[in-house]
Amino acid sequence: MQNTQNLNRSQSGEINIRLNINGNVQSLSIEPRVTLLDALRELIGLVGTKKGCDHGQCGACTVLIEGQRVYSCLSLAIMQEGKQIVTIEGLAQGDQLHCVQAAFIDNDGFQCGYCTPGQICASVALLSEVSQGCASAVTQDLERPPQLTELSEGEIQERLSGNLCRCGAYNGIVAAVQQAAGIHPPSPAATILVQEKMA
Ligand code: FES
Ligand code: FES
Repeated sequence: MQNTQNLNRSQSGEINIRLNINGNVQSLSIEPRVTLLDALRELIGLVGTKKGCDHGQCGACTVLIEGQRVYSCLSLAIMQEGKQIVTIEGLAQGDQLHCVQAAFIDNDGFQCGYCTPGQICASVALLSEVSQGCASAVTQDLERPPQLTELSEGEIQERLSGNLCRCGAYNGIVAAVQQAAGIHPPSPAATILVQEKMA
């Protein structure tokens, strides 16, 4: 019976892998051609990561792998064995939202919310990249890339240019990233919200 099962598994082309997702190890029997995005959504049930274009063009599927942002639609699940994968579901600590999640709420950084998990994961990676001194295509002085508290709107727009928002919530998204970076007041959009809350 055992041999028959193994034979069937072989004939179906599936292989056994273990993925570390949000600190939990998931065992999967999976075809090698399955993307990480489909594995997350269809096999594991983590549907927070969204499928937009499925072609690496919109950023809706962005997750963190070893702390770096990755389009999960362009990555095969079997390539991620042994790596730390974090999805939008893994950012909060219990009831405590990640500071980037809270900043998106504070600054109205979304409308329909479809792009938001990808935007938030990309923003978390963005802040980490800035902390590590990474320059962007619009950084003026490559010898002195911006610090977190110096992040301009232009820098954030460029660094998030791989994440599209069809609702056009970009002003709020930029303000949210600035707030999470410790810039106050973050932007005109966020300032209006702060003023409304204080009124
Ligand atoms: S769904 Fe992956 S980039 Fe659009
Ligand atoms: S909030 Fe709707 S696509 Fe971005």
